[in-house]
Amino acid sequence: MRQRKLKGLEEKLSVYSSDNRVRAEGMKGRWNQLFSSEQPLFAEFGCGKGQFILRRAQARPDRNFIAVEGNDSVMLRALQKAARRLLTLPEAAGEDGNERPFEDIVPRGVFQAENIPQDARGENRKDEAESGIRKKYRGSGTGRIFRAAPNLIFVNMYIRDVTECFAENELSGIYLNFSDPWPKERHAARRLTHSRYLSGYQHVLKPEGALEFKTDNEALFRFSVREFSDSGWELSEYSEDLHASDFDSVGFQTEYEEKFSSLGRPIFYCRAERRM
Ligand SMILES: C[S@@+](CC[C@H](N)C(=O)[O-])C[C@H]1O[C@@H](n2cnc3c(N)ncnc32)[C@H](O)[C@@H]1O
Repeated sequence: MRQRKLKGLEEKLSVYSSDNRVRAEGMKGRWNQLFSSEQPLFAEFGCGKGQFILRRAQARPDRNFIAVEGNDSVMLRALQKAARRLLTLPEAAGEDGNERPFEDIVPRGVFQAENIPQDARGENRKDEAESGIRKKYRGSGTGRIFRAAPNLIFVNMYIRDVTECFAENELSGIYLNFSDPWPKERHAARRLTHSRYLSGYQHVLKPEGALEFKTDNEALFRFSVREFSDSGWELSEYSEDLHASDFDSVGFQTEYEEKFSSLGRPIFYCRAERRM
């Protein structure tokens, strides 16, 4: 579902953190520096409104999590949710439009990231356009960073090629939840489980690392399982009805997952491990 662009988006996002643009490429191998302590690093690509990664991060303080979301409006929703949950802000404020604007009650700079290496700092949108930096770094480019908890940061950018953003063996795990299905065959290469992405994940994942994938879309699931197998991954967990299984992932539902499972749709799930 397409999210409509929210009014005053830039201003609202800047409440959470300003001056926080990084060049994805400059952060390669250094993401762990942004957290309170160096710990195994897990990333979700296309985190949406962030419920899954928030719950994961709260359940595992011994791991660091990066939640990547390309759509600015969806990112704002994720930050609002994180602020409400992590700062225990009043539930009523902001969501129904009758209360004070949500950003008025969030302390300014509440998710400001520190320790961004000087040489990894990105430029602001206007400078980027003028310097042609977006073209140069076409793909993942620059992103805004929001540090929501000691072990959780949100990154507002589109992932195009993970090897531009992460160093070899930098990640211990990857989550892909309800990724956009891109149903037309001519768009297959845009699916986040296309072999073109899988070879990148293989490079940035540690040898013992794993990727967990959930979707309600059977065609996308079958396609993905084929891609995993053709690209040399091993499926250590597999279910065509996750919620009827005992897999750990059941306990960490995403917004899409709650919606589709409440309609009685089965959730497809697999955990793929690097074989080489
Ligand atoms: C269908 S939604 C699912 C959201 C969430 N994972 C869930 O399960 O509720 C897919 C999300 O992935 C984001 N997305 C798609 N491609 C992306 C990419 N290459 N990099 C970052 N985000 C991406 C979209 O903006 C969208 O918010």
